[in-house]
Amino acid sequence: MITSSSFPLLCLTISILFLLPLPPSHSADPDPLQDLCVADLSASTPADYNFPCKPISEITSDDFFFDGLTKPGNKTKVFGVSVSAGNVLTFPGLNTLGISLNRVGFAPRGIVPPHSHPRASEVGVVMEGKILTGFVTTKNVFYSKVLTAGEVFVIPRGLVHFQLNVGEGEALEFTAFNSHLPGSATVPLNLFSATPSIPDHVLTKTFLVGEDIIDNIRSKFRF
Ligand code: GLV
Ligand code: MN
Repeated sequence: MITSSSFPLLCLTISILFLLPLPPSHSADPDPLQDLCVADLSASTPADYNFPCKPISEITSDDFFFDGLTKPGNKTKVFGVSVSAGNVLTFPGLNTLGISLNRVGFAPRGIVPPHSHPRASEVGVVMEGKILTGFVTTKNVFYSKVLTAGEVFVIPRGLVHFQLNVGEGEALEFTAFNSHLPGSATVPLNLFSATPSIPDHVLTKTFLVGEDIIDNIRSKFRF
């Protein structure tokens, strides 16, 4: 019960709550606090991927150079795509800069299946071929475009998106992120290839199908 003696205290509490700066609903990679902080990857991987800086006396021009996007990365056969990732783990010079990029090569009809990046928005430019790309909002609205060379599409942070090669031949896209390690959660792998497995009855109830269908889908993600 609010008594006349507790009323001033209540007013004070409410004003403090409104005056306190609200924590940002989305926080990005923190701003760098120094010119150079090349990641020392030999230090044990910190849980938050804030790598320590290697000693400035050991930094060379090579730390700011990366040729990992000159060639296709590991191909995921089942999806027909290969991703070469230029992030802090492969390119330590990106540490603390809040940026990274991928080269994504598509076989004909190859797909980057629905996935999301918990720590970054993504902007992608098609270099070659024809790609259908799109994302879905938290209100289940779908936005998409078919892109050809030179065209760009942006994916807001955290939203589920995909890219599908809809051209005749191969396709190539470069994607860039506002995080030195955007992370990637791939929906079908999350659901059907997690370790340990998500129990079947969770998936049968989720997709309103029988266990045979879940087992069948699961079997396709045993690489
Ligand atoms: C494409 O969506 C990528 O994450 O590189
Ligand atoms: Mn992506």
